Amino acid sequence: MSDSYLNFANSAMGAKLANALGLPKPLVLERYQAGQAVIQGTVMVGGSADSTLLPALARVFHSINANTVAHRQLPQWMALANAAGLMTGRWGIEDQPGEKVKALVFDATGLSDSSQSTALYDFFHDAARSVLPCGRVIVLGRPPEACKAPRQATMQRALEGLTRSLANELKKAIAVQLVYVAEGAETALESTLRFLLSPRSTYVSGQVIRVSVAVDAGLAPADWTAPLAGKKVLVTGASRGIGASIAEVMAREGAEVICLDVPQALDSLNAVAQQVAGKSIAMDIGAADAPQLLADAALADGGWDVVVHNAGITRDKTVANMQPHFWEMVVNVNLSTQERINEALVERGALKSGARIICVSSISGIAGNVGQTNYALSKAGVIGMVQSMAPHLAPLGITLNAVAPGFIETAMTAAVPFALREAGRRMNSMSQGGLPQDVAEAICWFASPASGGVTGNVVRVCGQSIMGA
Ligand SMILES: NC(=O)c1ccc[n+]([C@@H]2O[C@H](COP(=O)([O-])OP(=O)(O)OC[C@H]3O[C@@H](n4cnc5c(N)ncnc54)[C@H](O)[C@@H]3O)[C@@H](O)[C@H]2O)c1
Repeated sequence: MSDSYLNFANSAMGAKLANALGLPKPLVLERYQAGQAVIQGTVMVGGSADSTLLPALARVFHSINANTVAHRQLPQWMALANAAGLMTGRWGIEDQPGEKVKALVFDATGLSDSSQSTALYDFFHDAARSVLPCGRVIVLGRPPEACKAPRQATMQRALEGLTRSLANELKKAIAVQLVYVAEGAETALESTLRFLLSPRSTYVSGQVIRVSVAVDAGLAPADWTAPLAGKKVLVTGASRGIGASIAEVMAREGAEVICLDVPQALDSLNAVAQQVAGKSIAMDIGAADAPQLLADAALADGGWDVVVHNAGITRDKTVANMQPHFWEMVVNVNLSTQERINEALVERGALKSGARIICVSSISGIAGNVGQTNYALSKAGVIGMVQSMAPHLAPLGITLNAVAPGFIETAMTAAVPFALREAGRRMNSMSQGGLPQDVAEAICWFASPASGGVTGNVVRVCGQSIMGA
């Protein structure tokens, strides 16, 4: 469904009217096009004297051909960047701001006491007005739960307040994230930085992401433009909406896609499968024998590399008015089925080594919603499953993550009454709904063979919706 207000507010007359009436003026978000560079524009790097991730950052910036400049508080960046063969320079001369930049990256891993937070103020105070529209801000820290000293843990935890506020404050569709990198996981950072710096993450903002040390930290793909080449990917609910987009984006990234949907959706399912040169399976995943049938299919296929649990349903009613079968159906399809399928695939060895399981939750599962006790329970349960199962799957080299979409323009949200739909669309830092592609891009980042250090994460694709923030 198209957002006519966004189109209007970006027309010459609409922009004037929106200004005069003080209405929000959502920007047209940049979205990734196949073959595009990771980042178009300069990255400004900041940090403190004790920053620990600078060598890892220099390696990634070299790999993505990024042009960098150093903030005045980080003179050591110049030598490091030169040694890594990067184009670099200093940002600003004698207190005068330098060029506009596409991204700010601040390495906060060296901050071990709240008294050192001034380094953050200095950097962001200088740089906040110099980020281009649709720019990116990334703060890197150490996971507070792994810090030995309470003061260090306190300082690292404090970073969340900074990044979430910046995500609200910077406007111009600038996305801001905090990435906690475990000690020893420095080499596992590239896939996450590539995603966050690029237009792929256009509708992801205000998130906290953890990169951990993995049994199988993942290998850099031979070709970063087709990281899923040779991978077999199952996508449930693939006949339309977000699922169809996941299939398309996975295929764009080189995957062989197996599209699944209910038998009633066979025609549109086959159309999507044909479009992505993949296969289709017509099956109701809620059926009792579905998990074993899927394990059979995966084994017959030589094992699957990625499973995306996207199929989902709503049956909205207040709990007092809800019929029991509405409760059962939603919890079964959205949650119990995913648990049973994962168990069957793992127990029967139907997933290949380094497999990725990705679930689709919802911000309703985080914030709750009137009339959605069944749906919110199921989607919160998905988060519980990701967080509780990820540590069990990690020793097998399998990662488990979830995306939690906010308002995404699909048939599901087109059916929402007008006033509620407009509220859902505008009540976020981007003042607009996301597109199915935005969810699909986040799923592809989780699916990457280089994302072995990314597990147990729940990342909202919601433009920093105020719901449940
Ligand atoms: N659209 C949004 O704004 C939004 C927001 C948050 C979460 N989500 C979640 O994203 C996912 C996709 O949403 P969408 O908007 O594309 O929905 P959609 O209704 O357009 O698509 C869902 C697909 O899942 C399929 N499906 C449902 N039950 C199934 C079953 N038992 N077996 C096999 N397939 C089944 C449907 O046939 C349909 O093709 C869902 O899990 C949804 O809860 C969507």
